[in-house]
Amino acid sequence: MACRFTSLKFVGHALLAWAILCGPASLWSQNNAVPPGLPVIPAPASWNVGNGSAVLQGTLNLKAPAALEREAQLLRSWWSRCSLPAPRTALQQPEEWSAQLSVDVSLPAEGYKLRVQSGKIMLEGGSDAGVFYGLQTLFLCAVEDTAAAVYRLPKLEVEDRPAFAYRGMHLDVSRHFFGVEFLKKHLDALARAKMNTFHWHLTDDQGWRIEIKKYPLLTQVGGWRSGSQQGPYSLQYFDTLRYGGFYTQEEIREVVAYAAERHIRVIPELEMPGHALAALAAYPELSCRQKPLEVARGWGVFDDVFCAGNDSTFAFLENVLAEVFALFPGEYVHIGGDECPKTRWNECARCTARMRAEGLKDAHELQSYFIQRMERFANNRGKKIIGWDEILEGGLAPNATVMSWRGEEGGKAAAKSGHNAIMTPGKPCYFDHYQAKVDGEPHAIGGYNPVEAVYLYSVVPDGLSPEEQKRILGSQGNVWTEYMLTPDHVEYMMHPRMEALAEVLWTGPRKPEHLPDFQRRMRLYARDLERSGYRVAPHFLNSK
Ligand code: ACM
Ligand code: ZN
Repeated sequence: MACRFTSLKFVGHALLAWAILCGPASLWSQNNAVPPGLPVIPAPASWNVGNGSAVLQGTLNLKAPAALEREAQLLRSWWSRCSLPAPRTALQQPEEWSAQLSVDVSLPAEGYKLRVQSGKIMLEGGSDAGVFYGLQTLFLCAVEDTAAAVYRLPKLEVEDRPAFAYRGMHLDVSRHFFGVEFLKKHLDALARAKMNTFHWHLTDDQGWRIEIKKYPLLTQVGGWRSGSQQGPYSLQYFDTLRYGGFYTQEEIREVVAYAAERHIRVIPELEMPGHALAALAAYPELSCRQKPLEVARGWGVFDDVFCAGNDSTFAFLENVLAEVFALFPGEYVHIGGDECPKTRWNECARCTARMRAEGLKDAHELQSYFIQRMERFANNRGKKIIGWDEILEGGLAPNATVMSWRGEEGGKAAAKSGHNAIMTPGKPCYFDHYQAKVDGEPHAIGGYNPVEAVYLYSVVPDGLSPEEQKRILGSQGNVWTEYMLTPDHVEYMMHPRMEALAEVLWTGPRKPEHLPDFQRRMRLYARDLERSGYRVAPHFLNSK
């Protein structure tokens, strides 16, 4: 086990990894491959690992500037978990270790240089984030020697930087709700894989999950699916039981701060104009028909959406976003934009009057009007919007970033028209799909998307010029939770597909010949995850 996670015991499993590390195979060549036995994912850009290794023991003399105090603290607490407090002389030198953390702005901002040699750890990052990522690599390199009940670090020289700036995971907390404790554990797993973005899908037809002080009914009414029966909640009875939950603003701040300590930005998603039934159940006057509505109890796409002809809709959404902006310091807000049926708009007197007044030729242009109006509000407050690729229809808002989910075309169209894009095509970025064709898999949506497909994903679509390629910011895995009721199930769907995507995004495009090496490292990495209480889907273990 690599010394990575918080609770650490010298458990009795002999490590194959350690046997390899100690044996003749430790004469590693400088071929940039991750050495056998080190569960480092994502693979760094450049490696050089020397012979031998040293026991972590004794005091760590740590030097770090004040700006790196948080990273220094991380290193200290790792040291206290992994090192022997008093040197055991029988283990030979070094009995004293030193570490130096520093920032070198000539390195890429998230990049780092790490050297470990004769009891010295030297880590320079392009920023505090770079130092943080260097520490993640360091922690994964400390391997347990179960026989001696110690951890050892090999001699290392690593130079590393990410291939993509946007490395994300999405989580839908509307269809099923996941509490703050789970989110923190989830963020730990993201940080470990050097993912830097958490896309938090906070509202949808089936539940509004963020407290908005000005509109308390959003959570009092919109946070709950009604139902006459009592629990236990299960997939079979999900539409007949009361179910719900939400985050207070205090909890939102707590999650955002926890993520920031791990260099993860949090992008809140507030769905508009569609996927809005939970909000409309609370405030039906914002729908076209202005009649009572229910928080959705089944899955799908629903005709009742925010009325685009009613100025009160925009006033409401602007007030909501003003509170959201105060909670999320990052530059992005995701405003949804997907799957908005135009049925109600086409029959609504207000919406049709809006179309006439604004010279809009159809309801697609009305959707574009809606998104552009919300974008102006966001931009005026220093925020940028992201929307699902339907925001291209009827004309793209001037500064919007497109999240391409219905294949790659949306991302390509965005990049070709000078916009940034984030690639999340269903295959291979939807982690709610099946990952194995075996009996007994939990019910899933949307077909087959195995870890191998994720690993071989080419993020930048074909047919873009070098300039357009730069507008592909990166990618993310999406976890829609219609059929995921528990944290355990979410983790099962995420790991190891998230780690495969993390390697594609950090290390760069992967080829089939890299797959066996990834699987070998993933075996060790999965064991670490499991020992830290995460659930990992086992199918990749069968792969060669
Ligand atoms: C989506 O999957 N509706 C973005
Ligand atoms: Zn309307």
